[in-house]
Amino acid sequence: MSTVQDYIDNNIETFKEELFQLLRIESISTDSSKKDEVRKAAKFLSGHLEEIGLDDVTLHDTDGHPIVTAQKIVDPDLPTVLIYGHYDVQPPDPEELWNTPPFEPTVKEGRVYARGSSDDKGQSFTHVKSVAAYLQTDTDLPVNVKFILEGEEEIGSPNLIPFIKDHQDLLSCDMVLISDTAMFGEDQPSITYGLRGLAYMEVHVTGPNRDLHSGVFGGAVENPANALANIISKLADENGVIQIDGFYDDVEGMTSEMRDAYSRLPHSDSSYMSDLGITELHGEKGYSTLERASARPTLDVNGIWGGYQKEGAKTVLPSKAGAKISMRLVPDQEPDKIAKLFKEYVEKIAPESVNIEVKAHHGGHPVVIDLEFYGLKAAAQAFEDVYEKEALFSREGGSIPIVADFKKILGVNSILMGFGLTKDALHSPNESFSLKDFHRGIKTSARFFELLPDYRK
Ligand code: BES
Ligand code: MN
Ligand code: MN
Repeated sequence: MSTVQDYIDNNIETFKEELFQLLRIESISTDSSKKDEVRKAAKFLSGHLEEIGLDDVTLHDTDGHPIVTAQKIVDPDLPTVLIYGHYDVQPPDPEELWNTPPFEPTVKEGRVYARGSSDDKGQSFTHVKSVAAYLQTDTDLPVNVKFILEGEEEIGSPNLIPFIKDHQDLLSCDMVLISDTAMFGEDQPSITYGLRGLAYMEVHVTGPNRDLHSGVFGGAVENPANALANIISKLADENGVIQIDGFYDDVEGMTSEMRDAYSRLPHSDSSYMSDLGITELHGEKGYSTLERASARPTLDVNGIWGGYQKEGAKTVLPSKAGAKISMRLVPDQEPDKIAKLFKEYVEKIAPESVNIEVKAHHGGHPVVIDLEFYGLKAAAQAFEDVYEKEALFSREGGSIPIVADFKKILGVNSILMGFGLTKDALHSPNESFSLKDFHRGIKTSARFFELLPDYRK
């Protein structure tokens, strides 16, 4: 094993340069003008997987962005690990808030700043390099490995679900390994065993056939922006309890074991608040911050528009207004059902004086992984061996919708071995990733492969 670990230590500077090449590619999946860039990232990865010696490297075209697969089967009797990652990124907006260009990786104080550095290029590349370390040193891989790298995670993986359904033999495995989550804190290895689901909606409110003078018409004609604000104010109460009829029907209650586990996690509300520059927290009464941010469902406006937005004041009664609203879901809420309940409720509370259109975007099922799964235990030990600290188990509030589909379609658990940190600023300006965690991540991955066969019962 030390051969592999030494190889990682001795080549880490090259690995970083390779990662930086990937970070320079503007693979923004939601931006149709970047379609070629997304493909370029897929090509970069497939080329790289081939170079390090993987077999059957394939770039699969889809109706959207490509999916890259590859494998190294050493012995059918060994466990097979399917490594999942996404090479697409969120838009860098608002770009003016970046201190350095989002697609020019810049190293400062041991961190690389670039869009996708943590989510998910940097994190997923750890496994590419750990497999490379085995192949390049001619060390027998202790497990069979398969890769599936997609370019549509940030837009809800629309083409990945059908792909998995159609390629079940190609993807057959004993577990999925994913690094696309955060650690509990610096130097604190953590395994995420739960993720929230998602229902993402868009509401359009239309009133008069044109923008109107707010003095001439105000008071006689409903203002769509006012109507929208009213609708939004009725979606949740002041504590964040969602008012949509039936919304909580399928929410799994928290057992005392679950709450005990939460209370044992190291967490301080005051440092959490100071990190965010706020002086008070908000949310459902009777639940702790960590519980509210990962085990309870929520509703948030992600964007809202209507009327005059530029400098100064313009007196106008806008003809249209709209909002993008997401709901994070927990077991056993169904995204399609929640989307339907949302639409029915909004149509019910909307005033007759405006026209309402409610549209559902992508969704995703919530997941909780069985803590008894042997793969999680091997992952925890690998973390402990590299970080020299016991790994924690926690649930997170973000979503990786495909995890539920891996379980449903392939029947396997996922191991969420995150190397990120909350301070990585995912989806925000100045996203970054600790290069020390990139290095330790590669080593943890390599160690995990080494340990796994002994953990299988
Ligand atoms: N890597 C994140 C999810 C995440 C981040 C999970 C931190 C746990 C901790 C992923 O790329 C992401 O951003 N997912 C989206 C969902 C998707 C359907 C757009 C999300 O959670 O908003
Ligand atoms: Mn991600
Ligand atoms: Mn993301």
